[in-house]
Amino acid sequence: MPRFSKAVSSLRSSEIRDLMTLASRPDIISFAGGMPGNDLFPVEAVEELYGALDIKKKQAAFQYGPTPGLPSLLESLEGFLEKKGLPVKENRLLITTGSQQALNILGKAFIDPAEPVLVENPCFIGALSAFRSYEAELRGIPVDSDGISIEGLRQEIERNEKAKFLYITPYFHNPAGILYTAERKKQLIATLQGTNIPLIEDDAYGDLYFFEEDKERLRPIKAINPEGINVCYTGSFSKILGPGLRLGWMLVPEKIYEKCELIKQSADACSPSFTQVLADAFIRSGQIYSYVARVRQEYKKRAAAMVAALREHLPDYVQWNEPRGGFYIWLTLPDDADATRIMTLAVEGGAVFVAGKTFDPAGRQNNSLRLSYCNNTPEQIAEGVPIVAKAIRTICG
Ligand SMILES: Cc1ncc(COP(=O)(O)O)c(C=O)c1O
Repeated sequence: MPRFSKAVSSLRSSEIRDLMTLASRPDIISFAGGMPGNDLFPVEAVEELYGALDIKKKQAAFQYGPTPGLPSLLESLEGFLEKKGLPVKENRLLITTGSQQALNILGKAFIDPAEPVLVENPCFIGALSAFRSYEAELRGIPVDSDGISIEGLRQEIERNEKAKFLYITPYFHNPAGILYTAERKKQLIATLQGTNIPLIEDDAYGDLYFFEEDKERLRPIKAINPEGINVCYTGSFSKILGPGLRLGWMLVPEKIYEKCELIKQSADACSPSFTQVLADAFIRSGQIYSYVARVRQEYKKRAAAMVAALREHLPDYVQWNEPRGGFYIWLTLPDDADATRIMTLAVEGGAVFVAGKTFDPAGRQNNSLRLSYCNNTPEQIAEGVPIVAKAIRTICG
């Protein structure tokens, strides 16, 4: 048996990854993956943009690039982020290989084995696995429909051993689907101030809002720029262009940036130049804005189809959020329900989702499940939701 390190010995393939195999079976309607719809990718626009590049840019696309990112993309992305009110001049921007890498780098920058890290419960599985890989002690704080529990956060802050950071996904949460209220963000800021606990603010879905009136609520904490909190803001091209580009970013204070750049150097030297050139052209052409406006409408339609089907088919005892953006609806079942049993039945019936315990930092709580509507047509949603509802009724009565 090879003698692996302690850190990797405890790593397990996530349920979500295992499910991807199932989800790709053509006879199964998958509400499992958080993948954009293939039919929505701007394939022709990107082909044209690449074709129109001069030879120097095309050559640069094949070449290694600087670790922080191609200068031209850093500049155009700064412009994109400035429009959200983000303080790009007072911070440093680092292009990463997906925002998953940003989370991994931040985990490496802050966590020593057995140190506590605060996360939401439920929490994005990719963040959990990144922090686990540095042997963090994950402390989950409950989330309600307005955001993270402030009482829960206070209790964690009062514990003796100070947490290394707090990680949150306030804008169309994965998996809970919620959008933090402005009030909850204010309370969160007030609670963190003076604690010297950095905040990792993951904004992978914020551009995918369904309602213009939510724009103020979508203002990142990083843009509010609160006094005395080191906010590490992460974002991604995955949901606004394509995850296959493997491009994300972090916008962080200088001192944190310096460590992160060193970590990235040893991880992959640089993110793919090829896709950085394409992302840069996509932003500079202005098409990122029209494209995102278009997919917002499409996801809104898919979400509405799922909401209608859930209203019609779910039993009353199931609680769930009506999404205002993003990809997900989170179903909470009676306390003793086991979502894995429900999932097994649903798969037999021809639909799949992700069981709640996947997103529990402790890997236990399983009376919940995540449905994604992003990668299905309204027709598939209308066909798949009754299968899930039937499985819920069979198990929960
Ligand atoms: C909340 C959240 N953060 C980060 C990511 C990572 O995205 P990527 O590495 O593709 O940028 C995802 C992907 O689904 C996500 O849901």
